[in-house]
Amino acid sequence: MSVNNFSENKEFLIDKINLLRKEKDAIILAHFYQNEEIQDIADYVGDSLALAQWATKTTQKIIVLCGVHFMGETAKILSPEKKVLIPDLEAGCSLADSCPADEFKEFIKNNPNHTVVSYVNTTAAVKALTDIVVTSTNAKQIIDSLPKERKIIFGPDKNLGNYINSITGRNMLLWDGACHVHEQFSLEKILALKKQYPNALLLAHPECRNYILEIADHVGSTSSILKFGTQSENKEFIVATEAGILHEMKKQNPHKTFIPAPPEDAGCACNECAYMKMNTLEKLYLCLKNEEPEITIDEELRIKAVKPIQRMLEISAEHGL
Ligand code: 13P
Ligand code: SF4
Repeated sequence: MSVNNFSENKEFLIDKINLLRKEKDAIILAHFYQNEEIQDIADYVGDSLALAQWATKTTQKIIVLCGVHFMGETAKILSPEKKVLIPDLEAGCSLADSCPADEFKEFIKNNPNHTVVSYVNTTAAVKALTDIVVTSTNAKQIIDSLPKERKIIFGPDKNLGNYINSITGRNMLLWDGACHVHEQFSLEKILALKKQYPNALLLAHPECRNYILEIADHVGSTSSILKFGTQSENKEFIVATEAGILHEMKKQNPHKTFIPAPPEDAGCACNECAYMKMNTLEKLYLCLKNEEPEITIDEELRIKAVKPIQRMLEISAEHGL
């Protein structure tokens, strides 16, 4: 049966995935930006930090990471004894791509005596050049844990870096990278939406540009946006991050209204991450069935890349994150 025929039969795919995951002792982890049907079938749905944490504590033999490549790579770095699968090996990340390891190495060389902090949205090769990895859930706590006088290089997201500088009083040296999804939200259109929904609160991911963050009522990671929207007594929210997060927000809060923040270009679906959306139920099924594509990583590189991720997990645990 071809992949095209499978798309007609969602129930068939769900049954097969459920059988295969038991038979093969596999856990399915998914990011909040995944297609709805993948979020619904996953064992756990979470932000980048939660996915890394799950990769360390799961006892299953196979991890199927429904997210983008760096997420699968992080899981493999942390759990080398497990088979880590990802439904589509081509699911990359424009932010990780904005920071090639050889150029980042040169940047570090040209700015000696800095502690190197990297966002998790990076390749293993960049992590291997890094002292501590952060996600948007723990970046503030990790930067705060470093001595005030410490000089810091932060890469690759300049928007997150600027935001962390503004809330920690630091002056980190920033790599000039960005995410193509978070950079395209339109200030003008968000302001127009706020007029239309005067009671709506604006929730924004720190990968957004600073003029969006300045008018936001809450800035945080995907899990933090979900938590804020759930715990707030407010009933209407404009959400400035990848639109996949709205699925879980609506599921947990069926009586609240969540409006995706609009992109500059009205004709595009660019508040959706094309890489995240490359994973489909069909590809998930085939990936479990064939046990590929598999994430592999050179052991020498893995040993270098695991240290800054472990440091991140240790500091996160100290802060109850
Ligand atoms: P978080 O889910 O950690 O907030 O990350 C968002 C993101 O851009 C993942 O690619
Ligand atoms: Fe990368 Fe942006 Fe997609 Fe997240 S939303 S995976 S940062 S391209």
